[in-house]
Amino acid sequence: MVNRSEIMIEAKDLVYHYPGEEEPSSPALSGINLAVNRGEYLALLGPNGSGKTTLMKLFNALLAPSEGEVRVEGISTIDEGRITEIRRYCGMIFQNPDNQLVATTVEEDIAFGLENLALPPAEIRKRVIDVARLLGLEHLLLQPPHLLSGGEKQRVAIAGVLAMRPHCILMDEPTAMLDPAGRRDVLKTVQGLNREQGIAVVHVTHFPEEAVFADRVIILNQGRLVRQGPPENVLSDLPLLHSFGLQGNAVVELAALLREDGFDLPPQLIHSRELVHYLCLSERKS
Ligand SMILES: Nc1ncnc2c1ncn2[C@@H]1O[C@H](COP(=O)(O)OP(=O)(O)OP(=O)(O)O)[C@@H](O)[C@H]1O
Ligand SMILES: [Mg+2]
Repeated sequence: MVNRSEIMIEAKDLVYHYPGEEEPSSPALSGINLAVNRGEYLALLGPNGSGKTTLMKLFNALLAPSEGEVRVEGISTIDEGRITEIRRYCGMIFQNPDNQLVATTVEEDIAFGLENLALPPAEIRKRVIDVARLLGLEHLLLQPPHLLSGGEKQRVAIAGVLAMRPHCILMDEPTAMLDPAGRRDVLKTVQGLNREQGIAVVHVTHFPEEAVFADRVIILNQGRLVRQGPPENVLSDLPLLHSFGLQGNAVVELAALLREDGFDLPPQLIHSRELVHYLCLSERKS
């Protein structure tokens, strides 16, 4: 039975110790209470070692909680008989697409997960064609994945996850290996899937500019959830970001400098268009 509640993924009193870590000193994650809602775009920021990847692995049942629990569509991730189901609801995209592409052609790669679902070959073919069309990969279907650009490879990895018809996509720094064009390409793809198909997204990133379009931003530090809220509240709080070794996006950093120089700008500016708008107003006044 599919759970149709608003909550897709829920972490309750979650603690995770890697084997060998000395308990109870510093667990990789502790005291995490967090729900990911249906259709939500959640951005997850935090310095190196803050527990972001660990949390993604717990959401995807790659790791089991040391304490507390994680439920995906109501199913506990320690329910071993249902792990395949959990991964079908919640697909994962990693930082390096090379580690995710396994087949000799793009077409076979996209079909890889579907082969394990015991679907009829005609249904597999249809799903592959549908997602390839959606992600603009049709012309690459017969290519070997290793000949593609980084952005194209990452889109193939997303297509493989999407062919499983997930309710949620977990992305762990999906643009870290890509050039600016590849980054834009992947972000546009994922934002489109979220908006047009209602697929929830949990997006781990070191780039605050990738978080500005999220519905909610979460900050992890030393394994704890230290702040969450709408992007305009969290991403505009430069002292907070700096205190965790993070930076603001270019708009937020620039707005702070302009305020120091006496520009009267509202406090929660995070988008470039808004900054341009207020600068033009100041210019016109003076
Ligand atoms: N396989 C492992 N065995 C032991 N400790 C680990 C392992 N993987 C991660 N850790 C530890 O768990 C903590 C959280 O690591 P994690 O990889 O989740 O951080 P992260 O926020 O994803 O960092 P980054 O920004 O560098 O990707 C770190 O202190 C790390 O050293
Ligand atoms: Mg990581």
